Amino acid sequence: MNHTLSIRGQKAVDQVLRSDFEIFFEASKDLFHPTENPDGKITLNVAENVLSWPSLKDKIEIITLTQSIPDWVAGYTSCLGNPDFLESLAGFLSRYLFKCEIPSETLGISAGATAIVEVTSWILCDRGDIAMIPAPSYPVYTMDIGNKGGVERYDIISHNDISDLNQGHPLSIKHLSKAYNEIISAGKRPRMLILTAPDNPTGTVYSISKLKEITAWCIGNEVHLVVNEIYGLSLILDNEEQLPEFISFATIMEEMKSPYLHLWYSLSKDLGISGFRVGVVHSYNNSLLKAYDNLNAPHMVSNHTQWMLGQILSDDEFLPSYIHENQKRLTHSFRIVTDKLDALSIPYVNATGSLFVWLDMSEFIQEQTPEGDHHLWMDIYNKTGVLLTPGDGFGHEGYGLFRLVYSCVPSDHLKEAMDRIETYIQSFRT
Ligand SMILES: Cc1ncc(COP(=O)(O)O)c(C=O)c1O
Repeated sequence: MNHTLSIRGQKAVDQVLRSDFEIFFEASKDLFHPTENPDGKITLNVAENVLSWPSLKDKIEIITLTQSIPDWVAGYTSCLGNPDFLESLAGFLSRYLFKCEIPSETLGISAGATAIVEVTSWILCDRGDIAMIPAPSYPVYTMDIGNKGGVERYDIISHNDISDLNQGHPLSIKHLSKAYNEIISAGKRPRMLILTAPDNPTGTVYSISKLKEITAWCIGNEVHLVVNEIYGLSLILDNEEQLPEFISFATIMEEMKSPYLHLWYSLSKDLGISGFRVGVVHSYNNSLLKAYDNLNAPHMVSNHTQWMLGQILSDDEFLPSYIHENQKRLTHSFRIVTDKLDALSIPYVNATGSLFVWLDMSEFIQEQTPEGDHHLWMDIYNKTGVLLTPGDGFGHEGYGLFRLVYSCVPSDHLKEAMDRIETYIQSFRT
C-alpha cells in the first residue's frame, strides 16, 4: 500500500486500462517490416485506422503551409467547443453520417470519445447505477463509466453462437426486459443502455425498426439510450462498391427530440486521427448540455485542432472522395482477413462496418476456462508474432473468441499476418 495516494488513487495504480497493453508496447519495439524485420511482430489489437492517413496528412500540411492561424486559437473558448467548429461539425455530421439536419447547439466536444463517455455517464447516472450493454462490447466502457462516475456495467447476453450475429444484432425487447428486471431485483437502477453501431467488436448494426422499438422501450422505462456511432462511416462495401444499409440513430433523435436519447461520435476512427482527440456528444437534452458545459473544462479539445479540423470538416470537395476511398481501403483489408478465414473454415461475424473481425478460434482451445482462453491468445502470439485483442473484458460468454483489427497496418503486413495464422491453424489441425 502506497500511503502517498488516496484510496481511489491507489486503486488506479493497480487497475490497468487494457490487459493487452503491456505486450502491445513490448511488441511495438520489434515490429514486422517486409525487408528489414521479416520475423517481426504484427500488432492487430488496437482499434486504429492507418489506411487513409496519407491523404489526410497532405490536406493538413497544405492548410498549415498556406493559412494564417486566426487569433481566437490562442485564447479560451466555450467549454462545449468553439462555436465555429461546432457549426462545421454539425454540417459534416448532417451531410455525411446522420443524413438529417441537426443544429450545432445540440453538440459538445471533448478530448476523444473516451472523455465523452465518461462525462455523459457521470451526468446521466449516479454512483452505483447500471449501464446495460449488449455483449460482446468494448472493454474500456467499464473504465470510462466506472472510474470516475462509479457506474456499473451489465452485459446483456443476446446470442449463443456468433452465427446469430450475421443477420444484424439480435438484441430484443425480451433481452432488455430480462436485464431490467434482474437489475431491479438486485436493488439497482437500470439507468442507461449503450449500443455501439457499427459495433465494436462484432461490426453489426441495428435495423431502423429494431432501433425504434428499443427507443420506445427505453423512453417508456426512463432509461437513457445512447448510441455510439464512432464507426458510422467505416462501412464495408459490397462487390459493386455499394454501401450497406445503415441508418443513423440521429434520424430517430431528430424526430422524437426526447431527453432520453443521445448519440456519441468521434473523429478517431472514421478519419483515422485517434491522436487528435476529438469526441462528440449529440443530444436534445438541454440540461445535459448545460451540465456538460460546466464539467468539460478538463477535457477540452485544443483550439488549434478545432480550427484545423473545422476546415477539413467543411471541405465538401475533399470529404466525399476521402470517405469513399477510406471505405474501399477498409473493405479491401476486411476481405484479406475474411477470404483467408473462409478458406480455413474459421467462423467470424460478417461485419457491416467497424475496423474489426470478431473470430472464433475455439476449435484450438485446450480448456474452456478464462485460463484456457488466455493461453490460446498468448500461444497464437508466441508462435506467429500476431497480436490479437484478447477476449477478456468484452463481457460475452464462451472462450476462444478474439478481435482482429484489420485497419491498423498496411495491407501487405495484414497478408503476412494472415499467412502466419494459416500456418498456425494448419499445424494445429495436422
Ligand atoms: C466503441 C468505442 N468507443 C470509444 C472509443 C474511444 O475513442 P477515442 O479515441 O475517440 O477516445 C473506442 C476506441 O476504440 C471505441 O471502440
